[in-house]
Amino acid sequence: MDYQDYHEPVLADESVSLLLTLPGVYIDGTLGGGGHSLRLLRKLETLVGESLLVGIDQDSHALEAASEKLGALGGNYRLVRGNFGMVKELVTPIARGAALPVMGFLLDLGVSSFQIDTPERGFSYLRNGPLDMRMDPDGPLTAADVVNEYDETALAKLFFRYGEEPLGGRVARALVSARSTAPLTTTGELAEVVRAACPRKDLAIKTLSRIYQALRIEVNDELGVLEQALADGFELLSPGGRLAVISYHSLEDRIVKRFFAARCSADWGPKGVALREPLTPAEAVLVTRKSIEATAEETRRNPRARSARLRIIQKL
Ligand SMILES: C[S@@+](CC[C@H](N)C(=O)[O-])C[C@H]1O[C@@H](n2cnc3c(N)ncnc32)[C@H](O)[C@@H]1O
Repeated sequence: MDYQDYHEPVLADESVSLLLTLPGVYIDGTLGGGGHSLRLLRKLETLVGESLLVGIDQDSHALEAASEKLGALGGNYRLVRGNFGMVKELVTPIARGAALPVMGFLLDLGVSSFQIDTPERGFSYLRNGPLDMRMDPDGPLTAADVVNEYDETALAKLFFRYGEEPLGGRVARALVSARSTAPLTTTGELAEVVRAACPRKDLAIKTLSRIYQALRIEVNDELGVLEQALADGFELLSPGGRLAVISYHSLEDRIVKRFFAARCSADWGPKGVALREPLTPAEAVLVTRKSIEATAEETRRNPRARSARLRIIQKL
């Protein structure tokens, strides 16, 4: 397979320079084509002290592409196939074996350009392919299962919750009616039903992308896995370690923002009770007060960067 233009990393300089401070284990939980990992490895080589990079992805193509990219570098790294929701189970034995503290965890959420641009993966309404959308090609649930088996109420809820799509109910009704003749099997068929359900054809593109986003989140349990990874990844970090997340839509960013705010504030108990010390002190500090966004230059070069938001905290 040709992995030449697998993925252009987003906010690469910003995320790497703010994540990496002290030697130790660094986890790239979303390895993809290895764009961030390559830069992390290069910077790790400049630090005094032993370090190790652990790259995780649930897609075997990502592991192949990244090992092609990192192979020539010969740095100290391990690539692991798995879900970043299992970061604790995947990384604890590696960090113990290396006898190094975990000092950084990076998540660059969503799908890679390679995944979107490969029609067989079924992520895009612009390319006809099977209704799949699994980031892990061996995952248990496909978009076809959701579209053909969920009832109308469940589909409508899904489109409102994960797509924030005002026409969710209408699209759900249209899907249930369309599949009563024959199950939907391709991204092209799904796109046709969604387009036909839109009263304003000029807004159909927005509806399509929200419906596809909702299905992708459901198929990969993206938000549930993110919450798990934030909690477990933070626990893995040694004091001074940093957690960096690049998110691409408001649902992801909200989860990250809330998690960071909770870790960075002390619990002073109920209002009106004057305590000398908080019940539980803050566990982290914000490295980025506000989220960091891509420059106009990066957005021009890489339109994917337009919606990216980078947030980082440091464990106390
Ligand atoms: C935006 S891409 C990352 C691109 C990468 N930073 C680069 O520079 O090439 C996201 C990657 O994370 C992977 N991914 C998404 N969710 C995952 C999860 N829960 N566990 C493991 N990998 C995941 C996807 O398969 C995809 O390869």
